[in-house]
Amino acid sequence: MKIGILTGGGDCPGLNAVVRGVTKAALRKGWEVIGFKDGFKGVVEGRSERLDDRDVSGILIRGGTILGTSNTANPFSYTIRPLGSIEAPKDLSGLAVKNLEKLGVNALVAIGGDGTLNIAYKLHKKGFPVVGVPKTIDNDLSATDVTFGFDSALTVATEAVDRVHTTAESHQRVMIVETMGRYAGWIALRAGIAGGGDIILIPEIPYRAQDIAKAVADRRRRGKNFSIVVVAEGARPEKGEMTVTKIVAGSTDPLRLGGVSYKIAGIIEKQINVECRVVVLGHVQRGGEPTPFDRWLATGFGVKAVELIEKKQFGRMAALKHYVCESVTLAAAVRKLRRVGKDCQELRTAVGVGTSLGNADVQQFRGVAI
Ligand code: F6P
Repeated sequence: MKIGILTGGGDCPGLNAVVRGVTKAALRKGWEVIGFKDGFKGVVEGRSERLDDRDVSGILIRGGTILGTSNTANPFSYTIRPLGSIEAPKDLSGLAVKNLEKLGVNALVAIGGDGTLNIAYKLHKKGFPVVGVPKTIDNDLSATDVTFGFDSALTVATEAVDRVHTTAESHQRVMIVETMGRYAGWIALRAGIAGGGDIILIPEIPYRAQDIAKAVADRRRRGKNFSIVVVAEGARPEKGEMTVTKIVAGSTDPLRLGGVSYKIAGIIEKQINVECRVVVLGHVQRGGEPTPFDRWLATGFGVKAVELIEKKQFGRMAALKHYVCESVTLAAAVRKLRRVGKDCQELRTAVGVGTSLGNADVQQFRGVAI
């Protein structure tokens, strides 16, 4: 048996732990493991290396991915980029399958988020045996209770919220911490709860300028002269759009966000004249060592992926259900994003302790626009 493995999409703490888990479990069964370079780019371009025990030794706690990754390489719509230009996308999935077969790869483990898993599903439908492993710091895949990488990002974001408290209090300012989270506000919501944020703004609940300003003003009236705002990069006003900083052509999701926190600062300074400072966490949340939870989950997912291949359960993805590594179909995995819903525990918790969600109607659990 010879299996291939690749990491696709944005990097994330825990990718190396999965690569290690898959490789160790496969080698122990006497299988061979081939690592493809830079996600599906390496499959299309035929760039790979054999992985053995030595290659995966010591990588459990390392961030990033030893295999490299790409968030633009989609074999079904492949863009060749000679320096300074971009060619029209071509379907090179046939070439990808041919390259896998040429190497004698019997099954492929694709580790990635929504984009990568969609490609994996298409390859499976094309007849190549694939299993998926869910990754993303955004935790926005509905078919698993949690993705690896989320807990690590949450730890960084929570520490940032903790740390800005002292400056906020000393200077009687509003400190605004901007987290990642494009379409789902899980990082902002959980870090906001864990770090004691006073206002949490997420993509699922469009904010109202006057409600944000009122929340800060109300706190000041109660003698709390500082406030902490935690805002997800994908947050948007009730009658407006997300803050897009750039468009990455050829990416499975071309929008790159960032900077909404400056808009929030502008609102607060203009409406109630309280000094604000902004911290945009950005890729700091994706770097560094995975937390123990993510190492545990990533290793469990790696072993589960090998188990799926052994049982010939292709077209499936490892998934965590009630703390047990199980599996779901790739079709189910890519069907729907997991977003914050109006009945979720986190929203009830935040509202329960009096946190503002930037929209007075939402605090009454009415009119949640999700
Ligand atoms: O999807 C994961 C994510 O980290 C998002 O939270 C963020 O918007 C995006 O990737 C950033 O992508 P890039 O690394 O291409 O800037």
